[in-house]
Amino acid sequence: MHTDSAASAMTQDELKALVGRAALAYVEPGQVIGVGTGSTVNRFIDALAASKIAIAGAVSSSEASTLRLQAHGIPVFDANEVPELSVYIDGADEIEPGGCMIKGGGAALTREKIVAAQARRFICIADESKWVARLGRFPLPVEVIPMATQRLIRQFAALGGSARVRLRDGVPLVTDNGQHILDVTGLTIDDPLAFESMVNNWPGVVTVGVFAHQRAHLCLLGTPQGVRTIA
Ligand code: 5RP
Repeated sequence: MHTDSAASAMTQDELKALVGRAALAYVEPGQVIGVGTGSTVNRFIDALAASKIAIAGAVSSSEASTLRLQAHGIPVFDANEVPELSVYIDGADEIEPGGCMIKGGGAALTREKIVAAQARRFICIADESKWVARLGRFPLPVEVIPMATQRLIRQFAALGGSARVRLRDGVPLVTDNGQHILDVTGLTIDDPLAFESMVNNWPGVVTVGVFAHQRAHLCLLGTPQGVRTIA
């Protein structure tokens, strides 16, 4: 770990902008890169556009990021058109020292995992509030097929968890993939790899928001003292 620059009394949004800019160091001209979803990634996209680094384009993890990239004139490719990405840059809701994460606060977890799996390197950009010793404080997002919702709620209850369907404007949120999200509290996630494999095997689960198989290789953590680079 090293500190890149000094800063003081920065807001969370300023920390997100700081790591968004720091991620530019991992983008090389001519590449197609993977781009995640969320407010931190939005700052990265804006910094990328301002930087004039001439990338070939991006594979995006959500309709929202696609729109933002295209608004900046950055070409967006279908994941099937690009066999491998050199780098995937995305935020997290929680990240622990081993690089395992909870993601999906923005409901984009399934496409995020797909794009991350295509990349040689996952760079997580996050403000320091996301740093945890152990995963589980943030409600775990799980994308589910709606007909399995009630059974999955019972399966999480058997683990001590409390699962709720995520709502938007009073009705179940519908993801970019046409499915629903459960947010699960009260879980203990001691072994993220085993937990991810177990829940992904439950019928009706599209994607669980534990990213252990697709963990981050590097974390750029925004702190009031500057960017901590954690490998
Ligand atoms: C979206 C995600 C985001 O990366 C995560 O929710 C962090 O978002 P933000 O940068 O807005 O704090 O997983 O599905």
